[in-house]
Amino acid sequence: MRGAAQRLIIAITGASGARYGIDLLRHLKTRPDIETHLVVSPSGWLTISSETGLGKADVEQLADINHPPKAIGDSIASGSFRTAGMVIAPCSMHTLAAVALGLSDNLIARAADVTLKERRKLILLTRETPLNLAHLRNMVSVTEMGGIIMPPVPAFYNNPASLDDLFADSTRRILELLTLAGDADRREWNGLQPG
Ligand SMILES: Cc1cc2nc3c(=O)[nH]c(=O)nc-3n(C[C@H](O)[C@H](O)[C@H](O)COP(=O)(O)O)c2cc1C
Repeated sequence: MRGAAQRLIIAITGASGARYGIDLLRHLKTRPDIETHLVVSPSGWLTISSETGLGKADVEQLADINHPPKAIGDSIASGSFRTAGMVIAPCSMHTLAAVALGLSDNLIARAADVTLKERRKLILLTRETPLNLAHLRNMVSVTEMGGIIMPPVPAFYNNPASLDDLFADSTRRILELLTLAGDADRREWNGLQPG
């Protein structure tokens, strides 16, 4: 494990909000205790390019290990490869459906399937609006299987000053859910302060 204590799988799929995955990777690059495994779908590369202007090399250098989505025999396709879990950020309705139905026809869906079967944490930052009944049913199915549906809904009570603040808040929440938050990532609500 290259000296890291934990491994985390991160997938970026073709929903809007590529920065959710990218900012998570950027943050984890400062955490030598976590080895990141990245898979980006072909549509994910399209949204990365159109929303961030980053190229493949820029994104791939953020991860410790990169896996092509067609590499169905890679390490993360097996339950024997121990991880702390998997985050799909952002998660398209297509990938949500694949996870809900247990389709393992690419490495993202297979790694998610394995994460669920091994009872590890699977977090899906689902992004679509409005939602149709298929989307809602698929979210219920994934929840029933133990996955966590976490639409990246920003909180405004923290008075975010920038988009950076909004993405940082999502990163913190993801790490909290995975119980991988470092001391600097923790936030605790102490009630509304007067004035
Ligand atoms: C610019 C762009 C934005 C998109 N945004 C979304 C989105 O927010 N949510 C979604 O479910 N699909 C979105 N799509 C459609 C998905 O990319 C498409 O369904 C694709 O098949 C998803 O494949 P993947 O899950 O393998 O990445 C978008 C497509 C493009 C080109």
